[in-house]
Amino acid sequence: MRILITGATHGMGKGVARALASHPKLELVLLGRSEELLRETAEELRQHAAGPSVSVVRCDLARMQEVRVAIAELRKLPGLDAIFVNAGIGYAAEHQQTEDGFDAHFQVNYLSQFMLTLNLLDRLEASSHGGRVLFNAPAFGDLRWNDLQLEKEWNYELAIGQAMVAKRMLATHLHTLYQARGEPRVSCYSFEISKTVWSNQLNLIPRSMRLLATVMRALGQFISIDECGAIMAPLFLENRQECAQKSGRLVTLRRGKLYDREKHPGVLDSATREQLWNVSLALCADEATTRAAQRLTTR
Ligand SMILES: NC(=O)c1ccc[n+]([C@@H]2O[C@H](COP(=O)([O-])OP(=O)(O)OC[C@H]3O[C@@H](n4cnc5c(N)ncnc54)[C@H](OP(=O)(O)O)[C@@H]3O)[C@@H](O)[C@H]2O)c1
Repeated sequence: MRILITGATHGMGKGVARALASHPKLELVLLGRSEELLRETAEELRQHAAGPSVSVVRCDLARMQEVRVAIAELRKLPGLDAIFVNAGIGYAAEHQQTEDGFDAHFQVNYLSQFMLTLNLLDRLEASSHGGRVLFNAPAFGDLRWNDLQLEKEWNYELAIGQAMVAKRMLATHLHTLYQARGEPRVSCYSFEISKTVWSNQLNLIPRSMRLLATVMRALGQFISIDECGAIMAPLFLENRQECAQKSGRLVTLRRGKLYDREKHPGVLDSATREQLWNVSLALCADEATTRAAQRLTTR
């Protein structure tokens, strides 16, 4: 089974990669923006006794051109069974616009991974294990329809939340498209980790926030990236039916029990999801991505 993990060089993505590394028959493909961190992470994962096969794809998700190159590279793989749509910017001190002209959170956390996912769906459809896309997208946030690039008002929480809602809309929209289309299907769902993860974000936030987080950690409010990996890695190894049951949903696991978490009206409404789908395609302005979308919508 070949699993692509975006943002595998730190945090939740690295935790999941480490947990999956103890499974001998897996092949992990790590996507990250830093050549050096990718090399270090791949080396670390290869140290595992079972020794998974690990390859890396360097891609800065803040650059659409790099996403196109990464897609071409990933499409050369003999096959793909799963994607963990995880990479993301968290804390930021100020509003950043990418060279493509997008809000950085919107592009890195959502739009680039919209493009990446759409262009790999045909590979996932061919998976003999049942293709799956797992979106790391907790139950919060909202969309600013009249200011998607957050030019009028910005704070990092608003920016993260907008990307989270967009990712959940994408997961559910893909699910409904596959339902309408029939086989072959790819299971697409969002997952919310039930506790905050002590990730690299803690090294990036201001000192006052870190102090507060340290107190919260002492009170048991955080889990480590390895605890996160232990919770999430089994999701990638589920059989086709187990994945299909979660498709289209936002789920979380508490004490081994699965709960549904989606309440956002925009995610639950098919017309709103379709609106974001169309806006996203227009923003990508990429022929291959438009073709990938058309393939899904025409039977
Ligand atoms: N921490 C939590 O409790 C929590 C809970 C729910 C959801 N999330 C979400 O989970 C995702 C991962 O967060 P985390 O807490 O694990 O953060 P993290 O430790 O900062 O990891 C973020 C990962 O995304 C990568 N990344 C960032 N910008 C990128 C870019 N332009 N191109 C390619 N990769 C990029 C980072 O690469 P580098 O290694 O190069 O920095 C890193 O591997 C985020 O979307 C976050 O919002 C986090």
